[in-house]
Amino acid sequence: MTGKIEYLKHNDGTQIQPIGLGTFASVEGDCERAVLHAIDVGYRHIDTAYFYGNEGEVGAAVRKKIAEGVIRREDIFITTKLWCHFHEPERVEHACRKTLENIGLEYVDLYLMHWPFSYKYRGDNELIPKDANGEVELVDIDYLDTWRAMEKLIDMGLTRSIGVSNFNSEQLSRLLANCKIKPIHNQIEVHPALDQKNLISLCKKNDIVVTAFCPLGRANVEKQTPAFMFDGKVQTIGNKYNKTIAQVLIRYLIELGTIPLPKSSNPKRIEENFNVFDFQLDAEDHALLDSYHNGERVAHARQAMKSKYYPFHKTTLNVYSACF
Ligand SMILES: NC(=O)c1ccc[n+]([C@@H]2O[C@H](COP(=O)([O-])OP(=O)(O)OC[C@H]3O[C@@H](n4cnc5c(N)ncnc54)[C@H](OP(=O)(O)O)[C@@H]3O)[C@@H](O)[C@H]2O)c1
Repeated sequence: MTGKIEYLKHNDGTQIQPIGLGTFASVEGDCERAVLHAIDVGYRHIDTAYFYGNEGEVGAAVRKKIAEGVIRREDIFITTKLWCHFHEPERVEHACRKTLENIGLEYVDLYLMHWPFSYKYRGDNELIPKDANGEVELVDIDYLDTWRAMEKLIDMGLTRSIGVSNFNSEQLSRLLANCKIKPIHNQIEVHPALDQKNLISLCKKNDIVVTAFCPLGRANVEKQTPAFMFDGKVQTIGNKYNKTIAQVLIRYLIELGTIPLPKSSNPKRIEENFNVFDFQLDAEDHALLDSYHNGERVAHARQAMKSKYYPFHKTTLNVYSACF
């Protein structure tokens, strides 16, 4: 039993399913199988990125399901992201066309700026350029200049909408004060340990949808991290509704007003994570989940800390697992 799924409307009139399949770090081959299965289960929103190296697998799965008549192109929302070495304004169109070539479709639904900081360009495939000392080569390109180049992609028909990811409140406010086209999303890390209440409220005020990455705190069974994923207390909430811990966490993020992007390559877990629209948490459940907030991040991008556009200087940098 899935329950009724209400689509959300963006500030540019487009619509989106309020849950998406994450695809970061899926093993080669697994990503295509995961997307094929997810579409059969009912997912109509897939999150990928140039950086993940799996745009081709996402595109292949979507094209297969269109060819089989399971979906039409307009039924599915594909988000992908501009990587940090493509931030020079004159490289943005090239980057988007390269992504479309990988995906094998004429347009994507949403193109996000993956991070506000930039890397030196040393070729399309050199994603994390390093100097002789092994330090990541950062360059000071203003994200406003990159954004202006992204705005042009809509008129070119390469993407329907544009947005940002990992922008903090100051960066988002500065962008809003200086853009022609407003971002429709800010994709940020959200889970009980990092509830992002202030940033979510700023986004809501400005009619920007928040997509929540690492909704399960990038669950790691061996390390039993993060605590909220392996804690009997959260399972007691699940027991009230006959749901798993993952389902409780995903539901919590939906009720915070975000769109969670749980990643799974496992068919049973892909189904489990989607089955969250037939129950509602109560105030006591929210209070317990809120109590895990301690500001800990999974994706801290410490290699870019020296950039003036690094987004997390003002927040706690406790880290329980390294992102990259
Ligand atoms: N914009 C950004 O900078 C950014 C950064 C990070 C992530 N993202 C996006 O957000 C998505 C989600 O984040 P994430 O992949 O880092 O972490 P996540 O979704 O919080 O966690 C993924 C991990 O949880 C496991 N898992 C999934 N469902 C489960 C369940 N029901 N029970 C137990 N374990 C489960 C997965 O294993 P199995 O695959 O084996 O199920 C995987 O190891 C990414 O895939 C990506 O699309 C964006």
